[in-house]
This record gives sequence, C-alpha cells and structure tokens, in this order.
Amino acid sequence: MNIKIILMILLAMAMTYCTFNKYDDLHPKQSINCDTSIVISYAKTIAPLMEKHCNNCHNVNDAATIGGGTFLDNYDDVANNIEDVLKSISGKNYKMPKNGPKLDTCDIYAIQKWMNKKMPL
Ligand code: HEC
Repeated sequence: MNIKIILMILLAMAMTYCTFNKYDDLHPKQSINCDTSIVISYAKTIAPLMEKHCNNCHNVNDAATIGGGTFLDNYDDVANNIEDVLKSISGKNYKMPKNGPKLDTCDIYAIQKWMNKKMPL
C-alpha cells in the first residue's frame, strides 16, 4: 500500500478517537436512564457520595498526607472545588477515586446536576 494512504488512515483513526473521547465526557451515555425526579441536595446526595467514594483520603485528618491537600468532607470545600471534582471523576481517563473504580454514571450525573442547580444545601 502507498505510504500516504496508510498515513491518512492513521490520521483519520486518531481524529475519530479524540472526538469520541470528548463526546463521551460531555454527554454521559446513560444519563437518560437516571432517576431525574429525585431532589438533589448536599446533605441527601452529595455528602453520602463523598463519604462512600472520596472521604477515605479527602478528610480533615488525612487529606494533607493521602488526599493531595484537597478536603471534600464539608459543604464549603466540595462547593469550592466542584469543577475540579467533576473533572477528576469524568471521562475515560478519570483520576478519582484514586486507584478505585469509576463512579456510576448516574452518580456523576447527580453531582453535575447539583452544580447546575447552584449547589443547594
Ligand atoms: C485513595 C485516596 C483517594 C481517594 C479515595 C480519592 N482521592 Fe482525590 N486525590 C488523592 C490524591 C493523593 C490527590 C493528589 C493528586 C494525585 O495524587 O493524583 C487527589 C487529588 C484530588 C483532587 C485535586 C485535583 C486533582 O485532580 O488532582 C480532586 C478534585 C479530587 N482528588 C477529588 C476526588 C473525588 C471527587 C474523589 C471521590 C470520587 C476522590 N478524590 C477520591 C487521593 C484520593
């Protein structure tokens, strides 16, 4: 095969790969199947999710040593870090929970929704 054709195929593959990654980030596939009727609040939804998946490391006693200095065990710290939180748990190359399985799509969706609703207590 002609080297130019091979290069073009490789380039096309690289481009589709990037597009899909981005699309996946912006539009989590299963969000449509999540229960959209639940009222999301910090106390009912967000705090329990943090407690279950994040506070082992991101708590007031241990964050400095094993949580990279980020506290996520109270309203203010979660709210102030919300964009980083969402970034860290989203996408194929999610970073958090560190060394753990990715959060369920509906849980990520709930955190997104909480942010969009101006983070109610
Ligand atoms: C096993 C410990 C551990 C768990 C569990 C964990 N983190 Fe982290 N987190 C870290 C460490 C360590 C860092 C410092 C950066 C690094 O090492 O990647 C960090 C950094 C962060 C940061 C700072 C920005 C960044 O991406 O570096 C955010 C935001 C964050 N974590 C959010 C979360 C959320 C949200 C969860 C739960 C879904 C979570 N983390 C669970 C250990 C943890």
